[in-house]
Amino acid sequence: MSESFTKDLEVGFEKVDVEHRALMRQVAAAVEAIGSGDREAVHAAVVKLGDYLVWHFSSEERVMEETLYPERARHKAAHDLFMQDFLQVSEAEKAGEDLAVLAESIGQRIPEWIKFHIQVNDAPLGRYLAARDRKPEAARPSGKDKPYPS
Ligand SMILES: [Fe+2]
Repeated sequence: MSESFTKDLEVGFEKVDVEHRALMRQVAAAVEAIGSGDREAVHAAVVKLGDYLVWHFSSEERVMEETLYPERARHKAAHDLFMQDFLQVSEAEKAGEDLAVLAESIGQRIPEWIKFHIQVNDAPLGRYLAARDRKPEAARPSGKDKPYPS
C-alpha cells in the first residue's frame, strides 16, 4: 500500500520517525474512510489528517530553529508548498469532491509527496539531529514540545 511506512523511510532520529509513522497511520485512516464511502467519516479523517500535518510540520520546524539547522528555510518552504496542496484537497472534500478523486489525492499523491519529502528533506535533517546528539556541546531541542494530543 502506498500509505504504509516502510523501514527505508526511517530517518534515524526517533522523534521524527515516530511522528512519520503516526502521519502515515492518519493517511491510511483517511484512505480507509474513503473506501467505506461514509462522507462523514471521510470528512472527520481529512480534518484529523490536516491537524496532524500542521502539528507535525511545526514540530519539525521548531526543532530546526532550536538546533539552527542550516537548511531550515528551504525545508519549511517545502512544508508550506505541500500544505497549499493539502488545503486544496481539504477544500474539495468539504465541497463534496468525488470519492474516486479523493482516493487518488489522499491514497496516491499525498503519500507519494510525504515519502519524497522524507527522503529528500527529512533524512538529511535526521542525520543532522542524530549527529548533534553525539556531540555533548551541541545545542539541544528544548524538549518543551508536548506529545500530540490524542
Ligand atoms: Fe519535513
